Amino acid sequence: MSIPEKTPEGIAHMRESCAIAATVLAKLKEHVSPGITTYDLDQIAKGLIASYGARSADYGYQIGSRRFPAYICVSVNEEVVHGIGNLRRILRDGDIVSLDVTVEYNGYIGDNAITVPVGRITPALQQLLQVTERALQLGIEQARVNNRIGDISATIQEHVESHGFSVVRDLVGHGVGQSMHEPPEIPNFGRRGTGPKIRPGMTLAIEPMVNAGGYRTKTLADGWTVATTDGSHSAHFEHTVLTTDRGPEILTLPR
Ligand code: MF3
Ligand code: CO
Ligand code: CO
Repeated sequence: MSIPEKTPEGIAHMRESCAIAATVLAKLKEHVSPGITTYDLDQIAKGLIASYGARSADYGYQIGSRRFPAYICVSVNEEVVHGIGNLRRILRDGDIVSLDVTVEYNGYIGDNAITVPVGRITPALQQLLQVTERALQLGIEQARVNNRIGDISATIQEHVESHGFSVVRDLVGHGVGQSMHEPPEIPNFGRRGTGPKIRPGMTLAIEPMVNAGGYRTKTLADGWTVATTDGSHSAHFEHTVLTTDRGPEILTLPR
């Protein structure tokens, strides 16, 4: 499968959608505190996205015959990704929550995620968040022209496993552009020197999903939420990155 390289116009549009996605996420994060529900966070995100004239790329996103019913993904503790805001899910002191914001603006998509503490969390959870965020940074540094996708994958896996955590296998990062999920797939595990070669003008969503316990996951009864099989905590960080001859450029930064 060929990997789309963006035109200069496409890249200009990607800069806009990614800046909006990042600004929404930065503002949303400020609302995380004990007592708020995951539904509240979804509704706040809905309003923020609309305030920039953008639209949620998650809402109505179709897999098979099912459509995603929320504006962002909110995933708590053992939930890995694709959590749906719920009025009865009240965040408590000591939880961790992943916020994944994906917006479309002018036909182009920006995708980013962070995992944040709710109140005070244990040192073990702080370590999980820190290792996952660092794995993302190290993966991004590998998004260099003439490297291969496997260089990103292996770097993330090695960092995570060297700290005793595991990388999720069932979900992967991805190219992103006029569609949310484009080639190439970007696994968070693999071997250096394998996979598609990185060219200038690719826009990649790199997103390590890291479990404190085993790597296995299951989908919950709501048909969307992915959680760890062993009930261990999971963290997720994501940026949309542009590849250039001058190295990787993170597009999902607030402006
Ligand atoms: N933001 C997710 C990603 O990183 C995808 C959202 S799936 C949806 O790829 F179902 F919520 F739309
Ligand atoms: Co995402
Ligand atoms: Co993504």
